[in-house]
Amino acid sequence: MFDSGIGGITIYEEIHKLLPNESIIYLADSKNAPYGQKSKEEIIEFSFKNTDYLLNKGCKLIVVACNTASTNAVKELREKYDVPFIRIQPAIKPAALKSKTKVVGILATESTLSSNLYNETSQKFAQGVLVIEQKGNGIVSLIESGKMFSMEMDELIEKYILQMLQKNIDQLVLGCTHYPLLRSKIKYIAGEKVNIIDSGEAIARQTKNILEKENLINDSDSIKTQQFYINKNSEVFQQILNRFDKYFKAERLNF
Ligand code: DGL
Repeated sequence: MFDSGIGGITIYEEIHKLLPNESIIYLADSKNAPYGQKSKEEIIEFSFKNTDYLLNKGCKLIVVACNTASTNAVKELREKYDVPFIRIQPAIKPAALKSKTKVVGILATESTLSSNLYNETSQKFAQGVLVIEQKGNGIVSLIESGKMFSMEMDELIEKYILQMLQKNIDQLVLGCTHYPLLRSKIKYIAGEKVNIIDSGEAIARQTKNILEKENLINDSDSIKTQQFYINKNSEVFQQILNRFDKYFKAERLNF
C-alpha cells in the first residue's frame, strides 16, 4: 500500500486488523507530500513510481491508501499495470444516507475535491442532500512535519469545522487518510451531534473481498512481515507506528 505520506497508516490499521495473515509493505512518499495541491499529472507520476517500487518488492495487490491518488490516478494505474488496485471512495454515500439535516460536510484535499471521480460520486450519491466541501489545506503538511498536536493545527481545524457547522451539517466525511489521525480533536470541535465517517473499514472489507475473489488470500502458515518505508525523515512516522506496535520500524529509503 502507498500514500503520499504517513496518513495511510489509518487504512493500514484496518486492513491489518481484518487480514492479520497477510504480509504488508507500506510506502510513505513523504518527500513529495502533500499531493493535495499538486497537478493530476504529477499525482499520476508519483503513483506510478510508488507502484513500481511495490511491484519490485513482489506485491500481489496494491491499496492506494490516499484519497488524492485514488481520485486522480487509479484509472491510469489500472490501465498500466495488471495487479488489482483498491482505491478509496469518498464516503459520501453512507453520509448522505445517514443525514437527518440533509446537509453533509466533506473535508478533503483540493485535488480530491476537484477530481472527476469525486464529483461523479458526489452527484450520484448525494441527491437531495447538500454537500458542503471544505479544503483541508495545510493539515497534511502540519502532520508530516510533526505538528499534529500544535496551536497551528488547532486553529486550522477549528476554522474548517466551524465553517461547516454553520451550514448545519450532521455528517462529516474525512476525505483524506491523514485526517483520522486527528479524529478526537475533530470530534471535540464538531460536537456530539455530528457523526464522523472515514473509509478505513470499508477499504479493509473491499481488500479482503478482492483477495478472495482473485484467489490471492494467504492461507498458509508462512511468516508474515509488516514493513514500513518512508523517503523522508522517519521520526514522525516512527512515533505514530509506536502507537500500534512497539516492534514496528519505520525504515528510511532514498527514493
Ligand atoms: N493522505 C492523502 C489523502 O488521502 C493526503 C494527500 C496529500 O498529500 O495532500 O488524500
